[in-house]
Amino acid sequence: MEVRNIVILTGAGLSAESGLATFRGPGGLWEGHRVEDVCTPEALARDPETVHRFYDARRAALATVEPNAAHRALARLDAEWPGGLLIVTQNVDDLHERAGAKRILHMHGALLSALCAACGDRQAWSGPMGHRPGCGACEAADSLRPDIVFFGEMPYEMERIEAALAEADLFVSIGTSGAVYPAAGFVQTARHYGAETLELNLEPSAGSYFFAESRLGRATEIVPEWVEEMLGQQGA
Ligand code: OAD
Repeated sequence: MEVRNIVILTGAGLSAESGLATFRGPGGLWEGHRVEDVCTPEALARDPETVHRFYDARRAALATVEPNAAHRALARLDAEWPGGLLIVTQNVDDLHERAGAKRILHMHGALLSALCAACGDRQAWSGPMGHRPGCGACEAADSLRPDIVFFGEMPYEMERIEAALAEADLFVSIGTSGAVYPAAGFVQTARHYGAETLELNLEPSAGSYFFAESRLGRATEIVPEWVEEMLGQQGA
């Protein structure tokens, strides 16, 4: 099948070799924290200090790392692929953007953004939020929260993602465990609409059997190889 439109789903495995911890597995972020203590609307209401401490630490860690070869390869594909392309990332870091990617959306939010719980205003935010600042737009006190989609909240831009999946000729999932829906179900949606499916991950994900092809390895090796292949076909 001739590939024109590509949807790429990325997860924490893509940023692992930049030095950001993934969520699951040994040493993962969820090993040291209970999701329900730091990543739910209830936790934010009950214990904002703990939630802010967790995300302040993530924001501080992000300031110390750089995009890796896999981010750079995807940015190159974004720049050079003549057909449709959308990178849907579950990652809340900005490493895709720092590598130069443009056609990207953050379905689980962004660490470098603050959301006002009172009026919905968003603003760029790079420092800590633990002092619980008020909103500059509506002036509500203590109202800024991390612009992160917590468990139990609706991921961002689902309509745009669904539309891209419906048009996709190729769906590629990179560095994600396939443990969190709705992202884990995108492979089935893409297949339903007739797309080819490819997984690039260190190990088989939870939904590995849904993919027509799986390539296992480190993102910094297998992603640049795949991008070369795609752009090589293009020039052939
Ligand atoms: P996970 O931590 O669940 O999965 C990371 C995946 O990356 C695993 O399958 C690893 O095998 C793989 N991996 C690790 N290192 C890799 C490497 N160097 N190269 C390639 N693959 C590698 O992270 P996500 O699937 O992104 O949500 O997690 C999904 C969501 O769960 C996150 O967005 C987050 C979390 O709860 C929110 O915070 C809302």
